[in-house]
Amino acid sequence: SKIQRVTLIPGDGIGPEIAESVKKVFSAVKAPIEWETVVVDANTGISKEVIESIKTNKIGLKGPISTPIGTGHQSLNLGLRKTFNLYANVRPCLSVPGHKTRYDDVNTVVIRENTEGEYSGIENQPVKGVAQSIKIITKEASTRIANYAFQYAMANGRKKVTCIHKANIMKQSDGLFVKSCREVSTRYPSVKYEELTIDNNCMQLVLNPAQLDVMVLPNLYGDIVSDLCAGLIGGLGLTPSGNIGDHGTAIFEAVHGTAPDIAGKNLANPTALILSSIMMLRHLGHFYEASLIENAVLNTLSEGKVKTKDLGGQSTCTEYTNELVRKITESLNKK
Ligand code: IPM
Ligand code: MN
Repeated sequence: SKIQRVTLIPGDGIGPEIAESVKKVFSAVKAPIEWETVVVDANTGISKEVIESIKTNKIGLKGPISTPIGTGHQSLNLGLRKTFNLYANVRPCLSVPGHKTRYDDVNTVVIRENTEGEYSGIENQPVKGVAQSIKIITKEASTRIANYAFQYAMANGRKKVTCIHKANIMKQSDGLFVKSCREVSTRYPSVKYEELTIDNNCMQLVLNPAQLDVMVLPNLYGDIVSDLCAGLIGGLGLTPSGNIGDHGTAIFEAVHGTAPDIAGKNLANPTALILSSIMMLRHLGHFYEASLIENAVLNTLSEGKVKTKDLGGQSTCTEYTNELVRKITESLNKK
């Protein structure tokens, strides 16, 4: 098949190490992908070259990029989502049989509105000692993400979409979000629709995560709940995500940060970025390659012999990656 060029943004911290791991695994599986590596960091920002590359290729895979706390430039992670209007942030979270936690039946998908809410970047201090951040919720973006959530549910055999909100308090902003979701839900009679306040949702997830299926949330709630879900299955080392826009444009990335404490030490767990790259392969229609890599990951984690430190193992990022490559090569040779 035709070779697809993909923009690769390794990022900083552990980013380059885990990006290297994805490249090795993709070579092993002979994925019809060609990497175009570009740099996005605090010095370069989102350069013209990067914008051109993603515009042309339409598909990106990115590692984490550090974001300064409380000061400095707008997060480059956010900048990329906004530049390409990647309005749907899709974060599936599935229990990994090989990694034991308190729960073995987590199977949720966070569909996070990715362009507005508290992430609109409209902040100021009208007087000293008083700060405000303006949360923008529009009918247009809420309807768009609700439609995305239901379409996703239909396409992936999901039974239920739950709208998460705090409309009892934020009657205007979250009220509009809920109203938009409710309206959209009537167009999808075959998918069950429920509503839950964000606080209750957090408790329900911790009590019995299997109750929840697809969740659709405003930006900040989606950010928080996706980390909560990750915690249920063993942490951010295991959760992928995709930022999806129109006309097939998408950037896939791990949910975790740059982990500066372990950067450069060959200790990082590349699983989340590998799972993100599997989402990317499926987005591109390369189901066979996606499954080969996925099986290698799941089998390796199940066997439990080759695991990185964050999962209680002893292996380096390279050793883990080599084990995936070995398994992939073995399955290809069996064919
Ligand atoms: C995430 C991250 C980002 C976010 C940061 C790094 C801007 O936490 O992808 O969830 O808040 O969206
Ligand atoms: Mn986050």
